[in-house]
Amino acid sequence: MISIKSEREIKLMREAGKLNYLTHEEVKKHVKAGITTKELDKIAYNFISSHNAKPSFLNYEGYPASICVSINDEVVHGIPGKRVIKNGDIVSIDIGVELHGYHSDAARTYIVGEVAPEVRALVENTEKALMIGLSKIKEGAKIGDIGNAIETFAHAHGLSVVEELVGHGVGTNIHEDPDVPNYGKAGTGVTLRAGMVIAVEPMLNLGDRDIYLHDDDWTISTDDELPSAHFEHTVVVTKDGYKILTGEICDDEK
Ligand code: MF3
Ligand code: CO
Repeated sequence: MISIKSEREIKLMREAGKLNYLTHEEVKKHVKAGITTKELDKIAYNFISSHNAKPSFLNYEGYPASICVSINDEVVHGIPGKRVIKNGDIVSIDIGVELHGYHSDAARTYIVGEVAPEVRALVENTEKALMIGLSKIKEGAKIGDIGNAIETFAHAHGLSVVEELVGHGVGTNIHEDPDVPNYGKAGTGVTLRAGMVIAVEPMLNLGDRDIYLHDDDWTISTDDELPSAHFEHTVVVTKDGYKILTGEICDDEK
């Protein structure tokens, strides 16, 4: 079932999204060589809790931390721990925030220190792929339009698309219908309606698209150990486009 959110719900979801954005900004200040991923998790937990909100991921299906921190060949769902971030790493941070019973979901990948030009291009093009996917969104468009745009852009830049994990609806649950794949055919799939809230989240790889699940049952990495990047926003579909709920400014806010 795909829910259509009311104006009131969208306002609440924007508040959850704004806090998600602010949590990312807080964590970003600390993403540097020498910090452990567990310390980043703690910073996010404290920030979210101090705003009377909850980290959506904590205890979600048994997930043991507040955020996901996935480094280099790790695609998503890296569990924070003793690992120390070093120069030359790319670090994907994924944050879910629940406020007034509504969730928001957003991810970014940071470059720490110097990386090879093709790794920098991977990160920059994954963010561009997210924005190109979002640009297809408006009432009446199809879910397949989003994935097709992301996939076409990724392939044009020599990147592969992870297919096992997809974007999703967001609302009173962190994962709702519909699925939002990062691949597919334009003009196919669910029709977008104003008031639908979805998270679009391309995961692009420098090498092959194949991935595996670690023994911790969460961390997902590339088979070929080449790096992967991840960007995600939660957005609401509108009559002629979309509004990003997890950005700094949302539409006509000042
Ligand atoms: N942010 C992930 C997503 O976009 C969800 C991670 S939930 C976790 O779907 F519990 F696995 F962290
Ligand atoms: Co998500």
